[in-house]
Amino acid sequence: MRLIIIAAAVLALSGCGEKNIAEEINKTSQNVINSIEKKASEAGEISQKAEEAMNSIAQTTLEAKQTVEKTLQEAADTSRDILQKANETLSNISAKADKITNESANTIEAVKQKADDAAKVITAPLTNADKGKKLFMTCMPCHGAKAEKSAVNKSQIINKWSKEQILNALKGYKDGTYGGAFKAQMIPTAKRLSDADMEELSAYIVNLGKQ
Ligand code: HEC
Repeated sequence: MRLIIIAAAVLALSGCGEKNIAEEINKTSQNVINSIEKKASEAGEISQKAEEAMNSIAQTTLEAKQTVEKTLQEAADTSRDILQKANETLSNISAKADKITNESANTIEAVKQKADDAAKVITAPLTNADKGKKLFMTCMPCHGAKAEKSAVNKSQIINKWSKEQILNALKGYKDGTYGGAFKAQMIPTAKRLSDADMEELSAYIVNLGKQ
């Protein structure tokens, strides 16, 4: 009797245990499946988000590329414009510089020419006419620029005279053999003149009368 009870209890226990284990396995499997499904769905969401992110990055990259290309194109255009303007300005400047250089060269040449001419005049030996002109400057205040006046209204108009007459009068004032009432005004002047001076003066005064 005691044995039967024990056996029945064992059976009952073991029967009950088998049922429990099967349920437990079922339950655990279901949990695992649920968990896997959940993870799979999460993975799906993640992959979806990843794809969205990739698309968004691709879009942004494309836009960035387009912006860069546009900017580069604009920069290239601007550079070309600037280069073009710079070239124009440069050629303008160089044309102007050429012009200025040419003009300066011409001016320098002209100045040099004038300086040369002046130097020639300065270094050229005085011709007799030049000497006569220079000497006559001291006579001008009384006899007029062209010897066309009567000196202090007392002398004759000497540019109407011959060369010999002028020469003789000058020599006469110098050595005291010629002169009128106002010869005192001529003597100091005549005494400063050499024979050559008188020659040149007479020739020059005669010439003034012919102009
Ligand atoms: C300060 C004024 C003065 C100056 C300067 C002067 N003369 Fe006279 N000259 C006279 C007067 C005045 C006479 C008239 C003198 C006389 O009565 O003989 C005269 C007379 C003459 C005559 C003779 C003309 C005549 O009427 O008999 C000659 C030629 C002449 N002068 C030449 C010259 C020359 C050349 C110079 C310069 C180198 C000169 N004179 C400078 C005042 C001047």
